Amino acid sequence: MQDNAAASGKLPMLFSPIKLRSVTARNRIVASPMCQYRSEDGGPNDWQLAHLGRLAIGGCGIIFGEETAVEARGRKTYTCAGIYDDKHIAEYRRINDFLKANGATPAIQLGHSGRKGSCHDAIKDWAPLNAEDAIDGFEPWTAIGPSAVPQTPAHPLPRAMTEEDIAAVIQAFVDSAIRSEKAGYDIVEIHGAHGYLIHQFLSPLTNKRNDGYGGSRENRMRFALEVTKAVRAVWPDDKPLFYRVSAIDGPGGMWMIDDTIALAVALKDCGVDIVDCSAGGIVGSASKAQLPRLPGFNVPFSQRIRKEADIPTMAVGLITEGEQAERILQTGQADLIALARELMWYADWPAHMARQMGVNDHRFMPEGYAHRLQLRDHQATMPINQHTPENYEILSEWAGMTVTPD
Ligand SMILES: Cc1cc2nc3c(=O)[nH]c(=O)nc-3n(C[C@H](O)[C@H](O)[C@H](O)COP(=O)(O)O)c2cc1C
Repeated sequence: MQDNAAASGKLPMLFSPIKLRSVTARNRIVASPMCQYRSEDGGPNDWQLAHLGRLAIGGCGIIFGEETAVEARGRKTYTCAGIYDDKHIAEYRRINDFLKANGATPAIQLGHSGRKGSCHDAIKDWAPLNAEDAIDGFEPWTAIGPSAVPQTPAHPLPRAMTEEDIAAVIQAFVDSAIRSEKAGYDIVEIHGAHGYLIHQFLSPLTNKRNDGYGGSRENRMRFALEVTKAVRAVWPDDKPLFYRVSAIDGPGGMWMIDDTIALAVALKDCGVDIVDCSAGGIVGSASKAQLPRLPGFNVPFSQRIRKEADIPTMAVGLITEGEQAERILQTGQADLIALARELMWYADWPAHMARQMGVNDHRFMPEGYAHRLQLRDHQATMPINQHTPENYEILSEWAGMTVTPD
């Protein structure tokens, strides 16, 4: 079959490679971070290899693993991912080697749950661990946060972080970034969104401090910027650094798009290459939508941050169609397109969308698959394979029964 897009010399932007520092991703489709709640003492296992591996086989350009905690108490649950021990390096490397061998660029999202730690997983709506869980071996732990403000009245009080705690967490980010490099990642993203520790410092709802890390917006941004600078200092200069923002807190929140634009300007100065534009997470139930979940619901935030902070962005949130993604890129609303739920449903989305949009050579599938699929396309053009009465007669003769088109 003719490669229409390639033949016309116009590859859709979605399928054009993108170079970020010295890292080139084969296309602009990104598998967004997705917590799996299947890790063992922070480390990945065969589940993550299969979950992320199928996304590489399906053609994603960049593949994020799930949010990965920089220290054990910075996980949400006992089954959350972490990279807080050197033993994790080889475990992630095995997966990253597989992703690279299949054409994808591996990326890690480093995070810390802060006051959202010590809970059950998503299926139990992140309910806090309690004494009964302790009997089952899941002892609750004291979570930390900028201030002793619980998530809801039903949640335990977090401990307000001392300046020593702050320094220790920044060091944990640094150590985790160094381990990430050793584990073969090409991109690090700092998780500054969704109501987790860094976001908790930004929002006046969760940050009641009266030291240099609280009060004015500049002070509330200090922790985010210190983490970013410290990570940038150890993350190789030729590798890109992403930062995920919650562009707004959502209803009841106190962190708005103008605050995020100011933050993005500062992040650019710290050497961030891509601002990953998400939203929400500081107030309300984690499972209840804080924003209307319309197609591309975070894209307007990405558009404003990209333009007003003059920094490349990644858009995410109900992007499910190739043409929709292409429009976002073509109109300058984002530089990368991230998908989460659609990829659980449709892991080969990139390969299928490429074909739908005229890139017909199966280039985003592994070589062996592409070869056989190209052959199938070729066979479909041969006279013997056409839907003609003569060909059905030949088939009927061989089968010893009448075969008709169904
Ligand atoms: C199963 C699942 C796990 C998620 N885990 C994370 C995570 O670890 N870190 C994060 O920043 N966002 C996480 N998210 C949010 C997604 O990365 C994404 O921003 C969101 O689902 C919107 O994109 P979508 O409409 O394509 O799913 C998760 C989403 C899902 C569905």
